[in-house]
This record gives sequence, C-alpha cells and structure tokens, in this order.
Amino acid sequence: MTVLDRAAATGSELAARIVDGPGGYTGVSGDEEWAAEVRRLATQRGATLLAHNYQLPAIQDVADHVGDSLALSRIAAEAPEDTIVFCGVHFMAEVADIMSKPHQQAILPDLAAGCSMADMANLAKVERCWRELTEVLETPDALITPVTYINSAADLKAFCGEHGGIVCTSTNAPTILDWAFAQREKVLFFPDQHLGRWTGFNKGIPLDEMVVWDPDLEYGGLTVEQIKKAKILLWKGHCSVHQMFQPAHIIKFRNQYPEGKVISHPESALEVCRQSDFVGSTEYIIKVVKESAPGTRWLVGTELNLVNRLAEEVKAEGKIVQFMAPTVCMCSTMQRIDPQHLAWTLENLADGKVVNRITVPEHEAALAKIALERMLAVS
Ligand code: 13P
Ligand code: SF4
Repeated sequence: MTVLDRAAATGSELAARIVDGPGGYTGVSGDEEWAAEVRRLATQRGATLLAHNYQLPAIQDVADHVGDSLALSRIAAEAPEDTIVFCGVHFMAEVADIMSKPHQQAILPDLAAGCSMADMANLAKVERCWRELTEVLETPDALITPVTYINSAADLKAFCGEHGGIVCTSTNAPTILDWAFAQREKVLFFPDQHLGRWTGFNKGIPLDEMVVWDPDLEYGGLTVEQIKKAKILLWKGHCSVHQMFQPAHIIKFRNQYPEGKVISHPESALEVCRQSDFVGSTEYIIKVVKESAPGTRWLVGTELNLVNRLAEEVKAEGKIVQFMAPTVCMCSTMQRIDPQHLAWTLENLADGKVVNRITVPEHEAALAKIALERMLAVS
C-alpha cells in the first residue's frame, strides 16, 4: 500500500493533508509505516539509497549507506544497483551519475537541494580566471593545477579533468594538494577558500602565498606580483553554514570547560580550525567523538542536524556534545530531502516513472570523470 493509498484508506486528519503535487508529496511524515514502504519500494525497484551525514534522522535510518562525500562517491562509483537515489545535494547526485555505468541512473529526490558554496563558482568565471592567468603567467596549464572541492558543479570538475587537475573532498584534501604540487608549482583551489587555506597552512605554505581570487574583480583583485608569488590562488567562496562559527565561541567554551574538546569541519575559517583540537570531515567528526572517552565534553563546529544526532547517540556514555554557534545553522538545502520527497520519488519509480533524474551531459561527464578518477586513485 502506498503513502497515498494508506492516506485515502485511513481517512485521518493526516491523510487529508497528503497532497500529490508536481514536485512531490506534502504532508507525509517519516513514521515506521513510511520507513517500511520506502524500504519495500527500494528493494522492489533495485534502488540503493545513499544519505549524507547531514541528512534528517528519518532519511539516514532508511538509507543503505550513510557517510561523508568521499565515502559516498566511492560507494556510488561501485554500486551494482540500477538506480542510485541520492539523499544529499545536487553535486553529489551529479557525481553518482558521472561515475555510473550506462545502465544506471542517479536520482535526487528534490531538485531544490543545492549547495550554496558550489554555486559560488561557475564555469564562465573559472574560464575568465584562467584567461586572466594566461595573460599574467602565459602558460597556466604548465604552471597551475586546478583543484576543485567536490562541492562544485560537474562542469567545473570537467574543467579540472581537461586542465590536468583533480577533485578533492574534506577528507583527502591534504593528499590531493601534495598530488597537485607534484604536477605543477601553483594551485588554483575552488570554490572553498577555507578548505584550501587550512590545507595549505598545514603544509607550511605562508599565508601571503595563499591569496584570495575574487571572481568579480579583474585579475581576481590581485596584482601581477601577488599572482606570480602565490603558491595557492584561493577562490573567494565559502559555506554559509560553517562561516557562522567564530573563534570567540571556542574561547567562551574553553573558559567555561577547560577540560572540553573542540572539533571542527575544515570549511570553517582558519582561526576556528587553528583553535580546534581536531579538524576533519563529517565522518571524521563522528568517529572522533564516538571513540572518545566516556564523559568527554565536546564543542562541535559543523551542521546542526549532524551535531544533534551525534549528541543523542553518545549521550548514554555520558558524553556532552554542544553546537559551536549560538544561532541555528542548518544546511537548509540538505533538509530538502524529506520523507515526503523520498516517498514520492520511490512511488513514481514503482509506477515506472523516473522523476528528478540527474544527467550530466556526456562530454562533460567524461572529462569530470577523469578528475574524479584521479582523486579516487590517489586517496
Ligand atoms: P564531508 O565531505 O565532510 O561530508 O562534507 C561535505 C559538506 O558539504 C560539508 O559541508
Ligand atoms: Fe554546501 Fe555548506 Fe550545505 Fe555543505 S553545509 S552542502 S558546503 S551549503
């Protein structure tokens, strides 16, 4: 029985609220019946459900695999199922499509699930940047390795594939930066300046050799001397969630709880990362907190939904997990994937209708795959 059949049969107040619209259902809740139906439909249609660590608890609970961007891209690349339903954001479903075999399809349950950081770089601006670098350096292809964070559109991954570049995630950024410098003397890192700066900082690159390229200004707002001296050109992009974390939050926590530990995601600003005891991907954060001694108190600088879930999971061991910012900072686009959209996607699939398929054009996918395969090979 589908969500809609069940709604009609029960005649309850909740049932009256369920509406089947062109972009999904509304009014569905992530209860046990919903979970059972999602699992039944996924199995029946041979679909695997992948969920990022920021997804809502109900979505994580029904997924076949939950993880960070690197783990999920590997799983997507190796998935035997015909359909990959990606409970994450748009660039993640694009990666699944790029790495898929011809008989496979990638689906994003809500097309509005984007990533505001990924949107801070686009191909026209990156190509303009490359042209301006050509004017200054003459042969950027011989001098600069373009590195794109996985949080970027497929055409930027294709740009990297075409120009001897590579993709990185928050987990493998240090290894990827070594690879990039082994190819050429400079790196153009986009779209997250913070991940690039933190990674370069840990390699001992002086801060004045990591300059910010502002895509809205001519020559990135830099002088010829700055461009020539730079080891890393950092694209002026950031995550709107992680930019909320401030060193002052850490100072306050340490004053209150000197024995407490601080852990942050590397999309946070350099000063936040420097003042943290641990810095790493979403998966790393979960692992470190779970493996810590009973009774440990944690201040965590990453998305609120992950922090709340983690706090619940470790509470029985007497661990206290606190969110770093005093304000609510959720990744609102990640939460677009909700029980209603997932049920709608799978029920359409069961009716033989593929909704919200993500398809990267063939030529672009082939180039993007080169950059992604380079990443998977070295990390
Ligand atoms: P992870 O690769 O650490 O899961 O991060 C993805 C992300 O978007 C964090 O904001
Ligand atoms: Fe993008 Fe930030 Fe959301 Fe991660 S938390 S998906 S970087 S907007």
